Amino acid sequence: MDQKKAKIITFGISKGGCSKTTSAGITAHLLSQDAKVLAVDIE
Ligand SMILES: Nc1ncnc2c1ncn2[C@@H]1O[C@H](COP(=O)(O)OP(=O)(O)OP(=O)(O)O)[C@@H](O)[C@H]1O
Ligand SMILES: [Mg+2]
Repeated sequence: MDQKKAKIITFGISKGGCSKTTSAGITAHLLSQDAKVLAVDIE
């Protein structure tokens, strides 16, 4: 059986405004071209 494991990728740093959301959004968009992606942005 072809089992695919979910992968968790995290962009995290305590400093604000240093491109966490931007980087995560672009990465999620690119990965979504080949896989199912759930993107969560936590403030
Ligand atoms: N590579 C980049 N080059 C230029 N500007 C950028 C780049 N990445 C992000 N920015 C800009 O920097 C600002 C902050 O980016 P972003 O909102 O992604 O940061 P953040 O780490 O998610 O912030 P917060 O801590 O408030 O959630 C935005 O105006 C965004 O457009
Ligand atoms: Mg953010």
